[in-house]
Amino acid sequence: MEASWIVAMRLFTELKEIAPGAVLLPGFALSAALTLRDGIRVIAKEAPFRRMSTPGGLPMSVSMTNCGPLGWVTDRAGYRYSAVDPVSGRPWPAMPEGFRSLAVSAATVAGFAEFAPDACLINRYAPGAKMSPHQDKDERDMQQPIVSVSLGLPAVFQFGGLTRSETLERIPLEDCDVVVWGGPARLRYHGILPLKMGNHPVFGPYRYNLTFRAAA
Ligand code: SIN
Ligand code: FE2
Repeated sequence: MEASWIVAMRLFTELKEIAPGAVLLPGFALSAALTLRDGIRVIAKEAPFRRMSTPGGLPMSVSMTNCGPLGWVTDRAGYRYSAVDPVSGRPWPAMPEGFRSLAVSAATVAGFAEFAPDACLINRYAPGAKMSPHQDKDERDMQQPIVSVSLGLPAVFQFGGLTRSETLERIPLEDCDVVVWGGPARLRYHGILPLKMGNHPVFGPYRYNLTFRAAA
């Protein structure tokens, strides 16, 4: 991206620092919301949402699918990235250009200009679903950030430190908010509190979350 374009984007983007290396971009995905909704629909036809199991054998409360060259999966064999969807045995659906460019712009505004995502995990939260605090550490290149896009129902994001014992800050996330964490924040613990019931005009009774990663 051209330097002058980056300067212009920074001028017009609200940016809230959560921690060094971690920012909240409120409403950053608003202009892309319908593209994202339609993209999720197409992806889910090819690679339906499913509840994967933890390595311990417990089903996760969040339903997941992926797009892009690599997809994050979990089962008895552990957490990892896979080029094929284990349900269909086929490659994951391609990452739509509108998804990729949104993630790259968000990373650029947040100060990570070299972001090149090759994986997009799509989480679907129904009321009650949650994500326990964890680190994103299955990716090869820790120099690259995580870009996380929230869609639909609101949620409370927990953002902690580099060890599990540190207190978790609670950050309310609304439809179309984007969080980027990288650099010194790349391995911070994070999670999502149980989703409250609701109905969103575009996304219905769900919260969707896209996390873009450079996995390979
Ligand atoms: C994740 O950590 O993979 C999901 C975070 C979120 O749903 O906001
Ligand atoms: Fe995560």
